[in-house]
Amino acid sequence: MQASTPLLTQLPSYARLQSLATSLANASVEDMFRRDRSRQDDFVLQACGLELDYSKQLLNKEALSALLQLATDAELPRAIASLIGGDIVNNTEERPALHTLLRARHARGLEDKLAEVQSARDTMRHWADRLNSGQQQGFSSAVITDVVNIGIGGSDLGPRLVSEALRPFQGNVACHYVANVDPADLQNTLQDLSPDTTLFIICSKSFRTEETLTNSLVAREWMRDAGASDADLDKHFLAITSNLEAAADFGIPSENCLPMWDWVGGRYSVWSAVGLSCAIATGWRHFEEFLAGAEAMDQHFASAPLESNMPVILSLLEIWYVNFFNAGSHVVLPYDNSLQRLPDFLQQLSMESNGKRVSKSGVALDYTTGPVLWGAAGTMGQHSFHQLLHQGTAMCPADFIIPLTTHTGMSAQHRRLVANGLAQSRAMMVGRSKAEAETSLLQRGVEPARADELAAHLVMPGNRPNSVITLPSLTPAALGALLALYEHRTYCSGVIWGINSFDQWGVESGKEIGGQIHSAMSGDPTQAAMDPATERLIARWRDAQ
Ligand code: F6P
Repeated sequence: MQASTPLLTQLPSYARLQSLATSLANASVEDMFRRDRSRQDDFVLQACGLELDYSKQLLNKEALSALLQLATDAELPRAIASLIGGDIVNNTEERPALHTLLRARHARGLEDKLAEVQSARDTMRHWADRLNSGQQQGFSSAVITDVVNIGIGGSDLGPRLVSEALRPFQGNVACHYVANVDPADLQNTLQDLSPDTTLFIICSKSFRTEETLTNSLVAREWMRDAGASDADLDKHFLAITSNLEAAADFGIPSENCLPMWDWVGGRYSVWSAVGLSCAIATGWRHFEEFLAGAEAMDQHFASAPLESNMPVILSLLEIWYVNFFNAGSHVVLPYDNSLQRLPDFLQQLSMESNGKRVSKSGVALDYTTGPVLWGAAGTMGQHSFHQLLHQGTAMCPADFIIPLTTHTGMSAQHRRLVANGLAQSRAMMVGRSKAEAETSLLQRGVEPARADELAAHLVMPGNRPNSVITLPSLTPAALGALLALYEHRTYCSGVIWGINSFDQWGVESGKEIGGQIHSAMSGDPTQAAMDPATERLIARWRDAQ
């Protein structure tokens, strides 16, 4: 969005969308299917091996066309070109956001940066090949068999998700992830590992993050306690960072450091050397396929017209429900156990990017921006929170993500999983009327009077909006395309909301206060007193020691 672009509520199409939303609020999606015989084909998009079926959304062609007009009013095409062209889209930090360059093979006008990326890819490949071929030996000359990635936020969630999702493609080295400053996280991981066969990747763009540095210091002591000398540590520690000085202070030589750049946000960094643990876990070839899948989605995003642009459509659906139906949350339901970390990854992507209350120029917004994003792997959620999706008072739009085949070889059981996903999507749409509820109770042998009493509790209003994203198989390329799809959706929504999706100033104050409270707990007499509630809780902690 350019500085001169008006904010969402001032865009010409905004008022029209409000009235369309009012007229559709009580519409029946099943009726829309009855009236429009090609709806199941018209509200479907395909790109990069993914299919988005948004035919069960509370939306007709008129509303869709008004939403597309909104995207035009918000100058979305120009904003897409700006992102990919390397303009300063992160205005508060005065940086571009060039995660697309990390998976690009060509980038006109950005050749210098691409050369740096390519050199980093070569280094990643070197380490991935070296570890997978058993050439990396630890201090006892034993071959390294386990890699522990120590990082948090974007330096953890992406790599952890990708390693887990691509487990069927796994090579010879097992990758583990430690993020929490809770000592139990590191302890639980290390208890199954042997120091002489373990390599740590300290993954921190800033190399200043408390959790990561604390865990890394303990890991280094663990290595020393097992007999590693200072010189031996070079065989056991790599760093991914843009702060080479701090990594050197920690004792990691520059040849063991892989770069990060200030033009890549943490939550967009899995495609960089931050993804080294995934490249090691899956082997370089599969990591390249993962990059290629994302690159294909970038090309689709940059070139497809708005009406067939998958990230744009997903974003317009988000805007539709947040701003015109007051939906405060969005649920992502991967029907694949290996994608169980996807909601965590998307949570940071979406909520750290778009949890903002002022415009790019600092004006307080009078409309809602990023919703709460949450979710869990199907079918787990069906036995916990789906009750609220079907009968709760709040509208919570859902994305079902369904790979159509399984790597397990157990296709009969997988059929049940897919059936469950499709059933939940359909149930959200069709709901259950009072008459249907009564009939079902009577069929179960319930007395007519009791059936009449109970029926209201069984009613499901239906018309709960949801999309179904299917992929033939969860391959590295499909995963790359899927993650890039959500990255671009996030950006488009940020553009339409008029916010900067690439900073995260809101996380700073908590970190600062955390340092002050830690000093107070450690007995620092110079630490100024805090509010009475915090002082009381510190005293309570002290009493428990
Ligand atoms: O505190 C939030 C954050 O800065 C995220 O944006 C980032 O992904 C995470 O912390 C980790 O940061 P780093 O990679 O610098 O350790």
